[in-house]
Amino acid sequence: MGALGSFVKTGDFKSEKHVPVIEIPNGIKAGEEFEVKVSVGRDVPHPNTTEHFITYIQLFYKAEGSGVVTDLGKAEFLSHGESTAGPNKGGVYVSPYAVFKVKLSKPGTLYAWSYCNIHGLWEGSADIRF
Ligand code: FE2
Repeated sequence: MGALGSFVKTGDFKSEKHVPVIEIPNGIKAGEEFEVKVSVGRDVPHPNTTEHFITYIQLFYKAEGSGVVTDLGKAEFLSHGESTAGPNKGGVYVSPYAVFKVKLSKPGTLYAWSYCNIHGLWEGSADIRF
């Protein structure tokens, strides 16, 4: 047995389709709001079907030197072609893509989790420097 974190998978988003990609604009400043875009499958598309899809993206922040992780929010993706006519017949799909508006006062690290209904929990990260 191990802590939950020891089972969260990671990798290079350029070759692993499950890893959440965190994009931050250039020139961010401490104490000023900016947009953080988080997506799954940017470089290597992840399937988006009734049988296989990304359920959610969750974003966390840890300030440098702090032992506390702050949960910033979660976006859920609930439509993947389901229909009374059968799987993938509904014609409605939502992609794992979310934008968070964030204001931070200290450097640190953003962490994102994504959850695939088949392949489990995945993590990506991005350093915050001002
Ligand atoms: Fe998957």
